[in-house]
Amino acid sequence: MEEKVVEIQGLMKSFGDLDVLKGVDLDLYKGENLVVLGKSGSGKSVLIKIMVGLLKQDEGSMKVLGQEVSTLGTKALNELRLKIGFSFQNSALYDSMTVRENMEFPLVRNVKNLTRGEITRKIEELLDSVGLPQSINQMPSELSGGQKKRIGVARTLILNPEIMLYDEPTAGLDPITCMDINNLIVQVREQYNTSSIVITHDLTCAKVTGDRQAVLLDGQFKAIGSFDDVFAHAKDGRVKSFYDYNFIDS
Ligand SMILES: Nc1ncnc2c1ncn2[C@@H]1O[C@H](COP(=O)(O)OP(=O)(O)O)[C@@H](O)[C@H]1O
Ligand SMILES: [Mg+2]
Repeated sequence: MEEKVVEIQGLMKSFGDLDVLKGVDLDLYKGENLVVLGKSGSGKSVLIKIMVGLLKQDEGSMKVLGQEVSTLGTKALNELRLKIGFSFQNSALYDSMTVRENMEFPLVRNVKNLTRGEITRKIEELLDSVGLPQSINQMPSELSGGQKKRIGVARTLILNPEIMLYDEPTAGLDPITCMDINNLIVQVREQYNTSSIVITHDLTCAKVTGDRQAVLLDGQFKAIGSFDDVFAHAKDGRVKSFYDYNFIDS
């Protein structure tokens, strides 16, 4: 029996009259990269906000690392969040800080008693693994969009999270940079043994990074499986049309 790190059952969430999640069931298994696909506004970010306790569901269960998130108090929630690395769509680097200072920030705030040397070694190790060792003293304004994303991933990894949440990691990047980030997501899983949820509507990103694909449509997961199972053998016409339109949804 494979270990589940996230277990979602019958999850519902509405905002006023807007029913966003209408009974979502989904499991994330230890060590897998699970892709969540869906049009903009379909509730993908809401789902991961419930996962990290930024929003509360109306009904159903969201268990992360064995704990029902909605029942946790502040202290337990903070402890859980330290095990989840989440980089949201707009979570940018602090522009007034160097790369080193950006990376130190979560470490110094959350891990006590580290020496100067330990902090530097940890930062250097992570910049190495995202391929940017030479950027340590640069300002974010000197970096390309793809480099900023890489630093963002490195900063997230610095607390050794068990789960990584990537919310539209390739949005706004050119195709070659997208491929770099896709490869980084695959590499991170192998190097750091993380379990990940990758939210995207970029089909190449989905195919390259995902062990399984889950398609969120009309408030529920209508198809979950391998890329070929979900798209080549799609029974629901709307899943197929996602593929045909290549997720262009504006
Ligand atoms: N805090 C909130 N209050 C009211 N409506 C919200 C809130 N967060 C999200 N929504 C609405 O829920 C829907 C799903 O949002 P979201 O999960 O961000 O979509 P996406 O799939 O693009 O990430 C959208 O219609 C959005 O406007
Ligand atoms: Mg979103």
